Amino acid sequence: MIGDSTTPAGLGSSFPLAHPGTPPASPSERLARLHAYFLEGAPARLRPALEHALEDARRVREGYGDAEVGDSLASVWYAAAVIVELAGALELDDSDVRTATAAVAEACALPLASARFLLFSRVAGSPRLLEFPPLLAAETQLGLLLACDILLDASLWRRTARGPECILSVGTAGPPSRRMRAEAKAALRGRTRLSLLGGGQLRSVAVERFGEPYAVVVGRTGGAPAEVARAYLGELAAALGPVLEREHLLERSASREQMLVASAERRLMRLGFDLHDGPIQDVLALAADVKLLQEQVYPFVLEPHRELANGRFDDLLARLVELDRQLRELAHSLETKSVLSRPLGEILHREVDAFAQRSDIETTLTIQGEADSLSSQQRITVFRAIQEALANIREHSGASKVEIRVRARRSAIEVRIVDDGTGFEVERALAKAAQRGRLGLVGIAERVRMLGGTFEIDSRPGGPTSLAITLPRWEPLSTEL
Ligand SMILES: Nc1ncnc2c1ncn2[C@@H]1O[C@H](COP(=O)(O)OP(=O)(O)OP(=O)(O)O)[C@@H](O)[C@H]1O
Ligand SMILES: [Mg+2]
Repeated sequence: MIGDSTTPAGLGSSFPLAHPGTPPASPSERLARLHAYFLEGAPARLRPALEHALEDARRVREGYGDAEVGDSLASVWYAAAVIVELAGALELDDSDVRTATAAVAEACALPLASARFLLFSRVAGSPRLLEFPPLLAAETQLGLLLACDILLDASLWRRTARGPECILSVGTAGPPSRRMRAEAKAALRGRTRLSLLGGGQLRSVAVERFGEPYAVVVGRTGGAPAEVARAYLGELAAALGPVLEREHLLERSASREQMLVASAERRLMRLGFDLHDGPIQDVLALAADVKLLQEQVYPFVLEPHRELANGRFDDLLARLVELDRQLRELAHSLETKSVLSRPLGEILHREVDAFAQRSDIETTLTIQGEADSLSSQQRITVFRAIQEALANIREHSGASKVEIRVRARRSAIEVRIVDDGTGFEVERALAKAAQRGRLGLVGIAERVRMLGGTFEIDSRPGGPTSLAITLPRWEPLSTEL
C-alpha cells in the first residue's frame, strides 16, 4: 500500500518510523506516529476506518490502567486492526506487514520474530474478519502466512464427497499440484506427512469441525524452522475454524433464501399467467365487441355524423390495443426466465430505456464492476427493486430526472436510485400504503431482507427521493452448489 522510502526492504530490526538516533518515543507518541504513518499512505476511503481503529486503540490503552503497558498493547491492537482494514480493502502489501511488525516490536520491546507471531495471531483471529466474505477472510489469513515468510505458497482444501476440493490458493499461479492434492487428501484422513517439494517442505494443517478434519491448509515452508511453522499453522487452523463455520452457515441459509426467492418468483409467474388468461383475454373480447358494435351501429348513424362516430370508435379501439400492449408487457416483465438468461446490464438497460420512452423522464443508468457475477437471487432482487422503484417514480414522483447506479464491489452490491421528484413523508406513506394493501416498497424490503441486505429510503416532502440497497456479496466457496 505505502511506498515510503523510510520503510526498510527486509524485516528490519527497529521500528522504521523513528529517525536513527532519536530517543525512544513516549507512549502516546508511538500510537500517534504509527497512525500518522498508515494514514499518510492510505487511500482517502480508508481514512475513517483508520481513525476508528485509533479511537478504539486509545480506549484499549486506557483500559490497561498503566500508560506504558497500555501503550504497548494498544499499539499491537492498532497495528492488527489496520492490517485487517487494509486487507479488507485489498490494499495490504508485504511492506505494511513489515512496518506493523517493526512497530509492535518497538512498542512491546520484543524481538522481531516474536512481534511477528503476536501480530499474526491477532490479525488471523480478528473477529472483524468474520464480517468479510469468507473467501476474502481466508485469503487474508493465508496471505499473512506468506507475508510473515512462513510459507512460500498455500492452498485451502475442503472435504467433499468427491475428495478434497481446492477453494483457494495464494502465492502460486495456476492450479495446485497433484502432490498438494495428495497431501490434502492425507490430512483430511487425519494423517500428516512431511514431504519435500520444489526446494521447500510440504506441510499441512487440518481445520476441524466437531472433532473431524473438515478442511486443510497445505503449503511449502521456506526457511522458517519446523516448530515455528507448526506454531503458525496451528494458529491459522484455529482462526480458520470460525471463518469456515460461517461459510457453512451462509451456504445453508443461501439455499433457504433460494427457496424463498424461488417461491416469490413462482407467485409472480402465476400472476403473469393470470393476467394473460384473465384481463388480457377480456380486453381482446372487449375490442372484438367494440368492433362489432361499430359495424352494427354504422347503418344507423346519419351520414354527416358517420366520420365523427367512426373516429370515436377507432379511438376506443386504439386505447384497447394500447391497454392490451401494456398488460402483455406487464405479464412479460413478471417472467423470471428472461432476467436470468441475459446479462444483467442488458436487462437493466432495456428496462430503463423502455421506462424513459414511456414516461419522458430523463433516466441514466450506470453499472460499475462485475454485475454478471451476481447470484441468480441477487440479480432477480436488483432487477425487481429497480423495476418497482421506476414504477413508483412514474406513478407518484412527478420527477424529471432519475439516476440509477449499480455498483458490484467485491464485498457488496450497491444499488442507488435517486429521483428529483416531489418526495414524500416516508413513514406516513408506508403506513398508508400498508393499509391500502400496497406492496411495492414493502416487497423490495422483503426481497432485500431475504438476501441479508439493507434497504434505505431517504425522502422528504419537496424531494429528492433516494433508495439505497446493499446486498452482501457472498459467493459459495464450493463450486458444488
Ligand atoms: N419516488 C417516489 N416519489 C414520491 N412518492 C413515492 C415514491 N415512491 C413511493 N412513494 C410513496 O410511497 C407510497 C408507497 O409506495 P409503494 O410502492 O409501497 O405502494 P404503491 O406504489 O402506492 O402501490 P403498489 O406499488 O403496490 O402498486 C406511494 O403510494 C407513494 O405515496
Ligand atoms: Mg409502488
